[in-house]
Amino acid sequence: MMSSPIFIVLEGIDGSGKTTAISKIGEYLESLGRKVMITMEPTKGAIGKLVAETDDLTPESEALLFTADRACHTKEISECLEAGYDVICDRYFASTLAYQSASGLDRDWLYSINSKVIREPDVHILLDVDPEISLTRVGKRGEKVSRFEKLDYLRKVRDSYLGIAKAYGLTVLDASRNEDDVLMDIIGMIDRRI
Ligand code: TYD
Repeated sequence: MMSSPIFIVLEGIDGSGKTTAISKIGEYLESLGRKVMITMEPTKGAIGKLVAETDDLTPESEALLFTADRACHTKEISECLEAGYDVICDRYFASTLAYQSASGLDRDWLYSINSKVIREPDVHILLDVDPEISLTRVGKRGEKVSRFEKLDYLRKVRDSYLGIAKAYGLTVLDASRNEDDVLMDIIGMIDRRI
């Protein structure tokens, strides 16, 4: 019998390989005859668009908007799981904890607002990579970059992510390796869960 639907979350800085891994995970689950929904944060909904497109937010308002976006998203994710879909999500609450604490906010406060609006992922992975490598991968080194993509900031985000992984039980995978090796580790984790 097919096991119940699972909620998979991938975290990591841009260029850590989340997007490619997610589409391969999706193909793998579908090859097992499972129904799959791929989704991401910030979402394409009204709040997600607002936070992605507004440059002059304060760190607090940004954190609250990412979290509000997530509150709506969690409801959609739960509905998909209940409808029998495995859900694979590109970023979830650990993104707010990592990025907004790197912007100076208190991680415990960030977790406390998020704790009201999240559900526990079944498979929760941090693709860990040095930002020097990830920025080279996304071809953004030296170019004009957004506020979330500056090297010094991303170093803080990475450190913050590693602390969060320890505190909230994310599995850390070394994403500086080649894609296939990373994917094999992820699929091993999923296989143990389904
Ligand atoms: P997005 O609009 O997907 O940017 P891109 O143009 O790079 O695809 O926004 C992603 C950025 O938002 C990413 O660099 C990290 C940041 N972010 C946070 O700071 N906090 C969060 O809670 C989330 C979900 C994303």
